[in-house]
Amino acid sequence: MDHFLYRDGVLHAEDVPLPEIAAEVGTPFYCYSTATLTRHFRLFDEALDGVDHLVCYAMKAASNQAILRTLAGLGAGMDVVSGGEYTRARAAGVAGERIVFSGVGKTRDEMRLALEGGVRQINVESEPELRALSEVAAHLGVVAPITIRVNPDVDAKTHAKIATGKSENKFGIPISRARGVYAEAARLPGIEVVGIDVHIGSQLTDLEPFRLAYRKVAELTGTLRADGHDIRRLDLGGGLGIPYTRSNEAPPLPVEYGAMIREELGHLGCEIEIEPGRLIVGNAGILVSRVIYLKHGEGRDFLILDAAMNDLIRPAMYDAHHDIVPVIEPAPGATQVPHDVVGPVCESGDTFARGRMLPSLAEGDLVAFRSAGAYGAVMSGEYNTRPLIPEVLVNERDFAVIRARPTFDEMINRDTIPEWL
Ligand code: LLP
Repeated sequence: MDHFLYRDGVLHAEDVPLPEIAAEVGTPFYCYSTATLTRHFRLFDEALDGVDHLVCYAMKAASNQAILRTLAGLGAGMDVVSGGEYTRARAAGVAGERIVFSGVGKTRDEMRLALEGGVRQINVESEPELRALSEVAAHLGVVAPITIRVNPDVDAKTHAKIATGKSENKFGIPISRARGVYAEAARLPGIEVVGIDVHIGSQLTDLEPFRLAYRKVAELTGTLRADGHDIRRLDLGGGLGIPYTRSNEAPPLPVEYGAMIREELGHLGCEIEIEPGRLIVGNAGILVSRVIYLKHGEGRDFLILDAAMNDLIRPAMYDAHHDIVPVIEPAPGATQVPHDVVGPVCESGDTFARGRMLPSLAEGDLVAFRSAGAYGAVMSGEYNTRPLIPEVLVNERDFAVIRARPTFDEMINRDTIPEWL
């Protein structure tokens, strides 16, 4: 459920008509709803009610300071994957003890940053990383709290580019080798083992792969405890999917996910961490764009928008589907015709949808891409020297620009000219 609904024939973000924002901010822009963000965070938090837990928002999905502050204010911890994200989380007021540091290639500088600034735990993904972390921590005179990310060799049944839990993926340590790595961790001076970490992929629409992975984690918990390790925390990763189309069968709800976690892991008495990103922010954000031209090609109609692949890469990168709706509600029963929805960037890959059924639209009309809050703005770039598009946060009848569109000069002035030119 989200808070982008038609009212009096106009698409609103909460209580704000989208044309009002477009008039003030210009198009294209991302728009987020505080009410949806809040609702989705609470769904996870409540799903684990009564269990000692922390919901660590995977901020890679959308990392604007205003979004982080909104979630941190509700009690979220953060899952970060780089020094930049760590610094962003701290800047948004998140305490180090509420930050987990994930990622397959943390540098020594990033380790230092987190250990000096404070961190809840570092999720280690390889033996060389474990040794490097021990050295960095010992050098600083501290001990790094860690989990080891295990790769359970489970098929997450999602898009290949976002599946992470199979043995051929680069992530984690094969679960079959975990005992040996934990034994080494226990011997290292700068390391304190606190638990186990697992994350098998993103946009999962079935609980079974999670269940299989968590069962393996439960078994490993018993084995490692018997080996003398104090396994007191389980980081279960993120990955629960969202409905991208209205017709799609809905993925499982956080409450069902929470119930499954209790079933599989409740008896272990561990503190539970989860790292949802997409489900918290995905349907809490839309991308609003304006029609530049309608062009009649040979046998197809091209709807040319002012948003492009550099603003929302998901369709080009993962063949992802985003519902596209007119901001002015079409009359009931209005005829729909197939459109190829494209952006102005100079490649054919700059196509959002082919043959998409849409009511007739004209130059200047506004459209909204739904479910664009996660992996939208954060994955955008300035290809074709197109400025990063603004982000807007709505809260009931208020809205605020939370990231402004840079001017052309600001973009150009980031370049520097060597003295010999
Ligand atoms: N934890 C770890 C260690 C992760 O790698 C990820 C996502 C998450 C949590 C959050 O997963 P979520 O709850 O958002 O599914 N750009 C792609 C998605 C990449 C996901 C990367 N890792 C897309 O647009 O579909």
